[in-house]
Amino acid sequence: MFAAPKSIPLGVGSLQKPLLFTPLKLRDVVARNRCVVSPMVQFRATDGEVNDFHLVHLGKFALGGFGIVFTENCAVEPRGRVTQGDLGLWDDGQIASHKRLVAFLKGEGALAATQITHSGRKGSTPRVFDKPGELGPAGAGWQKWEVVGPSDQAAAEGWLKPRQLNAVEIADLVEKFAAAARRADAAGYDVLEIHAAHGYLLAQFLSPISNTRNDQYGGDRAGRMHFPLDVARAVRAAWPENKPLFLRVSAVDGGGGWDIDDTIAFASELKAIGVDVIDCSSGGIAGAATAAGVKRSLGFQVTFAAAVKKESSIKTMAVGLILEGPQAEAILQAGDADLIAIGRQALYEPFWPLHAAQALGCDPDWDMWTPEYGWWLEKREHTLGRK
Ligand SMILES: Cc1cc2nc3c(=O)[nH]c(=O)nc-3n(C[C@H](O)[C@H](O)[C@H](O)COP(=O)(O)O)c2cc1C
Repeated sequence: MFAAPKSIPLGVGSLQKPLLFTPLKLRDVVARNRCVVSPMVQFRATDGEVNDFHLVHLGKFALGGFGIVFTENCAVEPRGRVTQGDLGLWDDGQIASHKRLVAFLKGEGALAATQITHSGRKGSTPRVFDKPGELGPAGAGWQKWEVVGPSDQAAAEGWLKPRQLNAVEIADLVEKFAAAARRADAAGYDVLEIHAAHGYLLAQFLSPISNTRNDQYGGDRAGRMHFPLDVARAVRAAWPENKPLFLRVSAVDGGGGWDIDDTIAFASELKAIGVDVIDCSSGGIAGAATAAGVKRSLGFQVTFAAAVKKESSIKTMAVGLILEGPQAEAILQAGDADLIAIGRQALYEPFWPLHAAQALGCDPDWDMWTPEYGWWLEKREHTLGRK
């Protein structure tokens, strides 16, 4: 159990509203609170389309009171998926399926958010829980495909060897990110995030571990940032001026490579381009899913969000083993981040914000709940003699 510092208002009837439940205006959109569902891929899509599974899976987070609900990463081209079951925004035909989800999330008071990505050399993989020799669900006919990267170097032993992208293909991918951003807007999303973390394509260009090129897209830090910054510029131009743009970065590779000083320099450039929030994750460059190489403990990546916020004067989102309301509130009170992303704890506890509000004593009458639930739960408190 996280021990909240004394300054945090926890008592019922406390006059001060927790920061976690203070709305946040980003450009022209307002999140009802600072609780965000972190992007989490589910491997349940066919041809990149949103289906009933995604509607129910993500819909419950909107009912659960999250201010911003992120879909999983959506590939900007089929080759940019991690698995064949990932969502996509590479085709206009996919927009309609996203629209249905977006309408539901917004109807329940959440901002609808999506993340656009390219997996690069970490594409065409089995699902994380597939057994050796399996590639996706039995009988689904999943196939491997050619993967691409900044060089022909694989992420790690046992991973596919990529084909090195040339300058013409890199320019084409910039346009594909922009086109995906336009589709996200057409679907009605309020918030868009560029995925430049976890060792996927944009992170592969940033990191000196994976980017061994000696053309304009490699070499020193400026060269390695060239393609990701082109993507950020093109997406910002394609994404409406009045909607916020986030970018997720692996703030450090862990054990050498891209480091926090690089992230601070990158974030400052992104701010000048018009990126609004840096989502601070870590790790993943050498194959493992996320933060291998970075020691994990409660809130283990908050220091990255704090450093970027302070040094680059840009809003940040903290993520990683944030489990309880008081812990999240302490991060905000300390000024370490502006938003709190919840990943696995949201899988365990889809109504996390509403539970956090109870723990922080700021919803004594159960008003934050949809009334079809809250009315009954408030009455139950009387029955139990707790009110
Ligand atoms: C099932 C699952 C799928 C994930 N998929 C994505 C993804 O699509 N994009 C992404 O940036 N991070 C992804 N992540 C990482 C999470 O967004 C989050 O950063 C990570 O789980 C750490 O936060 P947590 O400790 O709250 O779970 C995924 C994590 C999980 C558990």
